[in-house]
Amino acid sequence: MNHDTDVLVREVGLRDGLQNTATFVPTEAKLQWIRAELAAGVREIEVTSFVPPRLIPQFADAEEVATQAMQLPGLTVMTLVPNLRGAERAFALGVHKVDYVVSVSRTHNLKNVRREREASLEDFKRIVEARDAAGLKGRTELAAGLSTALGCSYEGRIAVDDVRRCAAFLAENGAEEIMVADTVGYADPKQVREVFRAVLAEVGDIPVAAHFHDTRGTGLANVSAALDCGIRRFDASLGGLGGCPFAPGASGNIVMEDLCFMLDSMGLHTGVDLGRLLDVREIPAAHLGTGSLSGALARAGLPRHYQTASERAAAAH
Ligand code: COA
Ligand code: ZN
Repeated sequence: MNHDTDVLVREVGLRDGLQNTATFVPTEAKLQWIRAELAAGVREIEVTSFVPPRLIPQFADAEEVATQAMQLPGLTVMTLVPNLRGAERAFALGVHKVDYVVSVSRTHNLKNVRREREASLEDFKRIVEARDAAGLKGRTELAAGLSTALGCSYEGRIAVDDVRRCAAFLAENGAEEIMVADTVGYADPKQVREVFRAVLAEVGDIPVAAHFHDTRGTGLANVSAALDCGIRRFDASLGGLGGCPFAPGASGNIVMEDLCFMLDSMGLHTGVDLGRLLDVREIPAAHLGTGSLSGALARAGLPRHYQTASERAAAAH
């Protein structure tokens, strides 16, 4: 992370957003989006997903997008992988960071990746071995995401102890970051504190990131609760694009622009230029339609006399 940022904001719209979108966004437009968002100051982007193209045609260009994105100086290129086969595709390109997902909900894991949760957990060991055998230890970071950790549209409540145990298993077996995800937007701030404290107590020596969906309007309140627990890494998507095709009722991630505005207002540096970030919306909007993007900041504009964190810092000198 850059020394001048307090919080790492990670764009996941190209994966979480586009996996749910029937319209194929041309490869060049995806790359344009990535380049523009990097230029706005977002330094980590989940650029694609190594899933079978048959299952999600949107990612038929995964290799091309990842390869091109890796040419961009200063960008950490992350890709989602649902299994060992996907991880092998990512390792073949030497991507900077791999996001392996396991659902804490057994039912969601079965629906999403067609195997038992325990089998997915065990597969993580094989992924670590494959990474190391490819000589990528220390070069390709392995992050493990816990989907449906705060609720599941099949199972309802998820036991905190299940989340804690899955996180412990992944950390013990080589995860370099744990991402706790509210895949279907069920969480509230009180629950966020409970779950993140339990996970941090278990795996506190590696970074823990939060992935919230704003399906029921609690997204930024949940960010605030996670900040209180010490979390400093957040996933978000431009215009709140997002949703899991295998989780009924899942909708968009927290809106990147609104997240950055809130953090910036709180004096937490993200390194993101809000004006430039808002301009990036035009790129996905041109392909998906303006109506597909949400966002309070885009609707209302910056407050009068608002100074971004960087303007305030410059004025102080
Ligand atoms: N990339 C490309 N091809 C893959 C692949 C991957 N990651 N994983 C499996 N395949 C191929 C296999 O090689 C096999 O090909 P073949 O029929 O030519 O031999 C075929 O797909 C079936 O493989 P199998 O291991 O039986 O997979 P599956 O049909 O049980 O599906 C997943 C399992 C994990 C690949 C699939 O459920 C999936 O991609 N889920 C992810 C869903 C998702 O993206 N959710 C949202 C993000 S959380
Ligand atoms: Zn998500």
